Amino acid sequence: MKHVLLMTAVLAVSVPAVAANGAKLYQEKTCVACHGKDAKTPLLPTYPKISGQNAAYAEQQMKDIKSGARANGQSAAMKGVMHLVSDAEIKALADYLSKLK
Ligand code: HEC
Repeated sequence: MKHVLLMTAVLAVSVPAVAANGAKLYQEKTCVACHGKDAKTPLLPTYPKISGQNAAYAEQQMKDIKSGARANGQSAAMKGVMHLVSDAEIKALADYLSKLK
């Protein structure tokens, strides 16, 4: 019984931690430099606005840019920082971005 309570407590605190993480990662992993504070005022007009983007789509694009599967347009500019983020962090970032207005 003690075990069950402990597990529940761990799960309860880890959910908001992941949600908060996306915002933090966005700052720390340099995304903000190119995509802008609100993710819709990019550094260059040719860089994409990514706030409110579909989470599953954004996650896949980030993975593809990281792996090199997506190498179109200016994706080379972003590829250089993608070693900074793991798959789990990419997912947290995608969730965060999808919730921005
Ligand atoms: C050096 C500038 C730069 C940095 C840093 C950067 N990006 Fe990008 N990002 C780009 C560019 C440029 C593109 C568009 C690539 C293309 O032309 O295909 C892009 C594309 C994307 C896309 C796909 C958009 C779409 O509509 O397909 C997402 C999502 C994204 N970036 C998120 C991030 C996140 C999250 C980070 C931080 C881990 C990040 N980017 C860091 C420049 C950057």
